[in-house]
Amino acid sequence: FDVANTDYYRPVYHHTPQYGWMNDANGLVYKDGEYHLYFQYNPYGSRWGNMHWGHSVSKDLIHWEHLKPAIARDTLGHIFSGSSIVDHRNSAGYGKDAMIAFYTSASDEHGQIQCMAYSNDNGRTFTKYEKNPILTPFDGLKDFRDPKVFWYEPAQKWYMIVSADKEMRFYSSSNLKEWEFLSGFGKGYGAQPNQFECPDFVQLAVDGNPENKKWVMIVNINPGCMFGGSATEYFVGEFDGKEFKCDTKPEVVKWLDYGKDHYATVCFSNTGDRVIAVPWMSNWQYANITPIKQYRGANALPRELSLYTKDGQIYMAANVVKEAQSLRKDARPIENFTVKGELEMDTVFSKMEGAYELEMDVTPGNARLVGFDLMNEKGEKSKIYLDMKEGRLVMDRTESGIVDLKRNGKFDVHAKETGNYRKTLSVNYQNDFALGTWAPLSLCEDKTYHLDIFVDKCSIEIFVDGGRIAMTNLVFPTKPYDTLRFYTEGGEAEFSNMKIYKLGM
Ligand code: FRU
Repeated sequence: FDVANTDYYRPVYHHTPQYGWMNDANGLVYKDGEYHLYFQYNPYGSRWGNMHWGHSVSKDLIHWEHLKPAIARDTLGHIFSGSSIVDHRNSAGYGKDAMIAFYTSASDEHGQIQCMAYSNDNGRTFTKYEKNPILTPFDGLKDFRDPKVFWYEPAQKWYMIVSADKEMRFYSSSNLKEWEFLSGFGKGYGAQPNQFECPDFVQLAVDGNPENKKWVMIVNINPGCMFGGSATEYFVGEFDGKEFKCDTKPEVVKWLDYGKDHYATVCFSNTGDRVIAVPWMSNWQYANITPIKQYRGANALPRELSLYTKDGQIYMAANVVKEAQSLRKDARPIENFTVKGELEMDTVFSKMEGAYELEMDVTPGNARLVGFDLMNEKGEKSKIYLDMKEGRLVMDRTESGIVDLKRNGKFDVHAKETGNYRKTLSVNYQNDFALGTWAPLSLCEDKTYHLDIFVDKCSIEIFVDGGRIAMTNLVFPTKPYDTLRFYTEGGEAEFSNMKIYKLGM
């Protein structure tokens, strides 16, 4: 199982399967110095099907070793998404510190039912529980999947949150095998239209204060993304051991990432106070038809989650993990400068082979708009700018390279449109891929914005002010972007503390 890469767009430093199809990250768990990344995996081809749990491990969240698929499809159906835990208390009777995986078996015959499997060799191989399933929907729901199991200290019990069509359901258990229904949450909440998938439920300190913790429900929805297709939202609130109460009204939507290629994001278990999430970097609208052959699907960089307060509201920041600094191979500091009109830095990313980080502080000053294009000699460009009039960070990929992703000559639109949002955008749409995405700058500190941007072959991840805005988008330039062109409209802006790093493994 060691395959030489044949794809031009294979990322340098993002996790991808060596061969075959990948979607959601699954069963993320930390144990004995290893981060386990399981994932929705088709070992037989680079489109969705034959779902297994693929498996990679890492000591630092950045360098991944590919292992054999850990859980294979069986007579109960596909092995869909789920979670893993370390059974410190031996609740299930498979030994202290056994690793236990919870997943959905999915088939036309049996529907979507929750199953478990245990491992006594640090997650390399799993034995399925002989009495699977452990949980079926009490009302025959068709969409009932992606169990996330966590220890809930006040009740001294294990809890499970499962996506159940347009809500999330909570269950509890003492032995991990028998589950009791507690409550449902989410009908009518958040972005519409939606189908809830891949839940997570984590407790985080507000503004770093351990005395003030809040529960956050992470909900992946498809469709429902502001820009069409799949996206991740979250709800902040209180949990009393039975019910979750959201702090905000149902119509309030908070996004974990404002790009179009961030989905099925869930967190590692067993990482103490750190909450680390791993997104799948694609969108169901076109995930199966990206211009890649040998494999399909990558994970975005792992992100550390935290809560902050802005204008009386609590939001979640998603910042790239500090471990990503180990990718920096060569730093090019650039002296502070101001831009009025245009300024081009030719070939500033040359010899970086399309894998680099760009960090800077931008002070828009009196400019109405300030930004830059990452561009190549063919004129392909990804535009990133702050629109101060609209109060938005925008990334526009309409001219980024290959943008015409079509299946059988037709655009792939198996997810419903969210037309209302789209009409509010200032950029021009041609199809599901050729578009721009935006985030409100009101989430950030005023005056100066810290931008940390990761470019890797076919992706751009933007983190503003420590992840208050995260924006993840795929792009397919036919040559690496090697030039930076800055511009302002209606004033002068300052760029300071700029650094460019070549990134490599
Ligand atoms: C999310 C999802 C999950 C499901 C899995 C199937 O992307 O649809 O709800 O478990 O993918 O591969």
